[in-house]
Amino acid sequence: MEQAKSNMSMRKVHTGISGLDKMLQGGLIEGRPYLIIGGPGAGKSILTMQFLMVSVNRGENALYVTLEEPYNEIRQNMANFGWDTSKVRILDLSPEGRVADVENANLDYLTTELEAEMSSVKHKRVAFDSTTTLRLLDDSTFKARRRILSIMKLLANSNCTSLLICETDTKEQPMESFLARGVIKLYTAMVSGEKVRAIGIEKMRGTSFDEHLRPFSITSTGIQVAADEIAFESFD
Ligand SMILES: Nc1ncnc2c1ncn2[C@@H]1O[C@H](COP(=O)(O)OP(=O)(O)OP(=O)(O)O)[C@@H](O)[C@H]1O
Ligand SMILES: [Mg+2]
Repeated sequence: MEQAKSNMSMRKVHTGISGLDKMLQGGLIEGRPYLIIGGPGAGKSILTMQFLMVSVNRGENALYVTLEEPYNEIRQNMANFGWDTSKVRILDLSPEGRVADVENANLDYLTTELEAEMSSVKHKRVAFDSTTTLRLLDDSTFKARRRILSIMKLLANSNCTSLLICETDTKEQPMESFLARGVIKLYTAMVSGEKVRAIGIEKMRGTSFDEHLRPFSITSTGIQVAADEIAFESFD
């Protein structure tokens, strides 16, 4: 059994990235929503799909909710890592995936469709890409915050472990990071004309964790975190 007991009531689940599990002292506490933060091309979608692949490879159900990137592109991109994502259910709420005019639609369809999916299939893991798009669609920060909170509640009540993607380049903490049970941040920097990457855990309720930034790379088999190395470069 892959899951390890961290104490009487909290089980940890592996992320699919052994270096990250080491940073998390065994993995993510099961059944909670987490945030994955990073700028464009930081590796957020790859990390979340790698996380879902752990479940589908075990015969469990997993769901990728996309609000922007068309699902056929996601599947094509992930095939580069040798991942057969055909068993990952995709809920395409992107404008291309819907007949309705999204800008003028009542955004409640987002929660309704997710609720319907969650009640018809028992998903162990869910990726939600992204809360940033949700925020842009809602006409006030207040409404967006309530919507994100209700999605996190729905996912937690379904007892599934979820990763919600948040696109940001700034140092400012997005409001989602206060709502999520844990926050993992992906950094990129240019050093001597070369892109370098690092991963850090910003918060993780209910467990201690490695507070260092660790280097990571995107390889032909996905994300690899060097949990025993220090990221020396300066990342914003
Ligand atoms: N096969 C591959 N081998 C190595 N690196 C790759 C490979 N495919 C993609 N990458 C790297 O991963 C990046 C894309 O990762 P990903 O799609 O997870 O980013 P993201 O954080 O989701 O970005 P966005 O905010 O644009 O959605 C690319 O910019 C590239 O640097
Ligand atoms: Mg992405």
